[in-house]
Amino acid sequence: MALPITEIIWTILLALTLYIFYKKRKAKNSAYPPGPPGLPIIGNLLQLGNVPHKKMMEWSKQYGKIYSMHLGAEHCIVLNDPKIIKELLNDISTTGRPGNPVSLAVSEGRYGIVNAEGKPWEAQRRFVLRTLRDFGFAKRSMEGMILEEVSSFLDWMESKQEAPIQCYRLFNTAVVNALWYIVTGEKNEWRGSDADSKSELLRVADDFMPSIQACVMSGLFQAPFLRHIIPNWSGWNQLQRAVQGINGLCEKVIHRHKANFDPSTPKDFVDEYLIEISKTTDPNSSFYGKVGEQNLKINVADLFEGGNETTSTELCWIMLYLSQYPAVQKKLQAEIDKATGSDRLPALSDKNSIPYVEAIIQEVFRSSPLIPLGVPHKMIADNHFQGYLLPEGATVIANSYTCAKDPEIWGDPETFRPERFLSEDGTTVLKHEAVIPFSVGRRVCIGETLARDTLFLFITSIFQRFDILPDPDNPDPDFEPEVGILMVPKLFTFIARKRNIFK
Ligand code: HEM
Repeated sequence: MALPITEIIWTILLALTLYIFYKKRKAKNSAYPPGPPGLPIIGNLLQLGNVPHKKMMEWSKQYGKIYSMHLGAEHCIVLNDPKIIKELLNDISTTGRPGNPVSLAVSEGRYGIVNAEGKPWEAQRRFVLRTLRDFGFAKRSMEGMILEEVSSFLDWMESKQEAPIQCYRLFNTAVVNALWYIVTGEKNEWRGSDADSKSELLRVADDFMPSIQACVMSGLFQAPFLRHIIPNWSGWNQLQRAVQGINGLCEKVIHRHKANFDPSTPKDFVDEYLIEISKTTDPNSSFYGKVGEQNLKINVADLFEGGNETTSTELCWIMLYLSQYPAVQKKLQAEIDKATGSDRLPALSDKNSIPYVEAIIQEVFRSSPLIPLGVPHKMIADNHFQGYLLPEGATVIANSYTCAKDPEIWGDPETFRPERFLSEDGTTVLKHEAVIPFSVGRRVCIGETLARDTLFLFITSIFQRFDILPDPDNPDPDFEPEVGILMVPKLFTFIARKRNIFK
């Protein structure tokens, strides 16, 4: 196949033009935030090194809480302070998403929520939030769905009989099953976390994150034109297959719902959305006809992709910390025992009696930020903020890593100490504005309640029944993450020993 040389030349010329344009604009406008000098065309890309969030934290000491940098032709504003992040992400001018062709391939354009902007994003987000609230999020029915998966997971863990358990993707099966049930009303049968034969749902779920990771590692997000030149090596083909898998599955679920559709008795989120489509007569609405169906498909995919790896990976982080901090684990178990005894599984109504688990979750989020640079936003209008001009079109990065690790905020940021999030008498969880794993402002994660409830139910149930011990053959696991869009713990194993009160 001939190389699309013309396209490459045009891309390079465009990058150069944009670079010169921004340089001129910057020179003309001294109100533009300062930042590290970069190279033509690639900007600061190479300086970021292997752990970009750490380099970006370093730059904040030199250039301030708001600074600028260039990633190729992309012009970025980096925010490094919790108050600034909160104020700016609450402003409508920051609610766009960069139009990276690789990200847009996942949402087949600007459909769904994650990559949508403007009026369609507002309408879709509002509808999804409201409907999920009615159908499950923060409701008892959702709790039951999660607990079913928790229960299967505990049985599986017991069957391991103290053999070392590998934590890699350990929770994905349970989390995917619960998430799919909550969003689509369809039950996926439990298959153990190490099952050989996986359902289509679990297979497509497993393929997604590795395909994104392949694109991150090859630099495809920064140089999207590589997809035309080295589609295999750049991860592009892998991503295309993974996206077709997930989006195809979502399409099938919608067809099944349409076949059994009864508007008088909506059973789940998909039914509710189909009713909204059937009611919509305005051709400009994002719920109208085929556009509506396309938005429904990508919404289901967004919820699934947004909720699966994040929640599953955070559970692995918590297991890592608790296996290495036995005193914290013992204190947690004492609280769980006091609240629930051993006759029943913990429930969401126990939250107030087990504040320590929330403190642990906060401290794990702070110690090992899961998404240290958040999900990038885009300025959709110029904004004059704290003496700076933040121009329309610039990418906005909220560096939650800096907030989580700033010694001025925490004093001892490198110490793992869940007590920092408890009141002096230990009975109340203290929220802190500098811990923002779900982001803040207008685009704050819509799955926060579901994620926090899932973490609570899994962690309290596991530690109620098991002591989690380091694997004697691998007793000192590494706390440094594998760097990608998500920070994932390096491979580690642990032992699950049934507690005496359950023997
Ligand atoms: C530990 C678990 C989770 C973490 C740490 C997390 C974190 C985040 C973050 C940082 C964002 C970006 C917000 C922004 O743009 O400023 C986000 C957005 C989003 N999350 Fe989550 N998330 C989690 C779980 C979930 C779950 C369970 C769901 C759904 C079932 C979900 C669905 C979404 C969606 C749809 C968005 C896009 C919101 C928008 O663009 O308006 N997430 N999440």
